[in-house]
Amino acid sequence: MKKIVFATNNRHKSEEVKAILAERTEVVTLADIGCNDDIPETGSTLEENAILKARYIYEKYNIPCFADDTGLEIDTLNSRPGVYSARYAGEPSNSALNMQKVLLEMEGVTNRQAQFRTVIAYIENGNIQLFEGTVKGTIGAKPEGNGGFGYDPLFIPEGYDQSFASLSPEVKNSISHRARAIKKFTAYFRNTSDKQK
Ligand code: IMP
Repeated sequence: MKKIVFATNNRHKSEEVKAILAERTEVVTLADIGCNDDIPETGSTLEENAILKARYIYEKYNIPCFADDTGLEIDTLNSRPGVYSARYAGEPSNSALNMQKVLLEMEGVTNRQAQFRTVIAYIENGNIQLFEGTVKGTIGAKPEGNGGFGYDPLFIPEGYDQSFASLSPEVKNSISHRARAIKKFTAYFRNTSDKQK
């Protein structure tokens, strides 16, 4: 069975991908391959960071690898926090402070359009493929809901009147940026591995 590394230690993300690719591919995480390295995320775009992570593992372990990077892009803030989403309010990463900073920057702003964007980079035989997933929505006036993580309490996806943190995980996972990027990646992956059979 073909083996690929998902350059993450986030169990939620890896379980999601493992479930989709289970019959044909063994998906392992950084912990599974004994990698505790602090992989550099020094890029200035989501694409650069996803590629940096995937390439780092591929070059060190010589196993096909994919990595993802996600950001919240707010129209009126010129797509910030974007690649800086995790530590927008500084180190260490703190979701409540990040949301507070966004709300402060958007005080009195009527255009509240935003999107979550996930980029997946997949590297095999030295070739890199990129896959993108987005979900559009608006930034609420204040955090709402107890589910999810990160900026979920602030983000109201298009077609809904509740934040990601108020919607059920099933609903979020059916429309999310990450789910959409993963779907594109897994479709590509299935297609190419079928051709190689
Ligand atoms: P990562 O690239 O998946 O680690 O995401 C970077 C940062 O973006 C996280 O630390 C969160 O602040 C934010 N983020 C990523 N995905 C989501 C999501 O699904 N909901 C809310 N915030 C998210």
